[in-house]
Amino acid sequence: MSKLKYERPFIKKMSVGMLDKTGTQSELTPVTTIDGIAVKELIRKYGSPVFVMSEQQIRHNYQFAVRAFATRYPKVQYAWSYKTHYNNAICRIFHQEGSWAEVVSGFEYQKALNNGVPGSQIIFNGPDKQESELILAVNHESLIHIDHLEELYLLSSICNTLKKKARVAIRVNMDTGIYPMWDRFGFNYENGQAWTALQKIAASEFLSLTGLHAHIGTYMMSTNAYAIAATKLSTLALQCKKEFNITVKYIDLGGGFPGTNILRGTYGAVQLPTVDEFAEAITHAILQAGFPPADLPMLVLESGRLLVDDAGYLLGTVLANKKLSDGRKATIMDFGVNIMFTSFWYDHKISPAQEVTSFQEDTVLYGPLCMNIDVIREHVSLPLMNRGDHVVVHKVGAYNMTQWMQFIAMRPAIVLIDTNSNTHVIRQKEDLAYMEQLEQIPEHLTLKN
Ligand SMILES: Cc1ncc(COP(=O)(O)O)c(C=O)c1O
Repeated sequence: MSKLKYERPFIKKMSVGMLDKTGTQSELTPVTTIDGIAVKELIRKYGSPVFVMSEQQIRHNYQFAVRAFATRYPKVQYAWSYKTHYNNAICRIFHQEGSWAEVVSGFEYQKALNNGVPGSQIIFNGPDKQESELILAVNHESLIHIDHLEELYLLSSICNTLKKKARVAIRVNMDTGIYPMWDRFGFNYENGQAWTALQKIAASEFLSLTGLHAHIGTYMMSTNAYAIAATKLSTLALQCKKEFNITVKYIDLGGGFPGTNILRGTYGAVQLPTVDEFAEAITHAILQAGFPPADLPMLVLESGRLLVDDAGYLLGTVLANKKLSDGRKATIMDFGVNIMFTSFWYDHKISPAQEVTSFQEDTVLYGPLCMNIDVIREHVSLPLMNRGDHVVVHKVGAYNMTQWMQFIAMRPAIVLIDTNSNTHVIRQKEDLAYMEQLEQIPEHLTLKN
């Protein structure tokens, strides 16, 4: 018989108070493997903390989402939202699956080209496209989604100089019943700005109107909001046909479908629509908008978090336990908000990575930074864990590895587990040489021996 694991004694304060109907969340079930690989082994090999991405889960999510739309609508195209996770290996999985690229900056654009995406399959979004980047995009026949009139005029003058036509769409913002409205991007539908922009494009000899785009928000929980957006874009497309005899080739409804992470303060009690329900609402709205079947626009989607969040894990280690002045237990982990940006709005599920007993304590989970804001979970019921024990943080695949900060600590490695359960480092752990490579020392500060 193996020796029982030591567990420190603890005294638990009993408190009586209001619970919501789901009670507190407790994380008792250990997660000891990811895609067949032992968590302990991953940490031994790649260090702690470490991000782990599952190729199998990404491919599954992608195929599932495509199927939801393609079974309901004849022309569907996904474009991978680079800002969600622009590690090249991750992008290439999406491109291998057939996804185009959706980028919002010059360097993302260049990454997409380097990842082998044909220019004509790169959607260039965002309010800040530099002149040199627009020239590149025109030369590569990319789909340029115009955000404001200044950009429209700049693009016209670039095309005039190049003697080339640009393939363009406009981003449209609108009232979909969700407030506050995301009206800072693109042209407004209700006040006529969108139509004015379309009139200018239709009259231009340099701009070829190809699509219409909307991204109505993020973590959207209403299928109806998408149905409204699809209807409004369809109305514009039909009006373009009627007034300018232009056939709009695609309608792009952006991203925004929620992943399954729990938003802070919702206690997991919110019922989220499924991908099929979003697909049903959107495709139904376009199909009944009045397009002749031959003119049905291609439906483009730019989902980010939906496709990658649950494919990402963060493995970490307990540094210490302590009692706070009010009696609450605090545990300090070796990962913090510097690499878990999404902990500001999600209550991430955190599982122990080794066998535990059934005792649990309400715990405040801190990161390792010497900064008061470094709180991963304000309140989570966790089993007893000692220094050196490991945890698995779930659903961290979206935005954390692009929004992570190099603040106090260096960023950890990212490891991909492929579909044959082989592991690959897809981004090395940072070191001091990497961090200092762009720094320069003025002559008067050089060290004299
Ligand atoms: C234009 C655009 N498309 C797609 C996305 C991806 O959004 P999500 O990850 O919520 O699906 C975003 C994110 O903000 C966006 O701004």
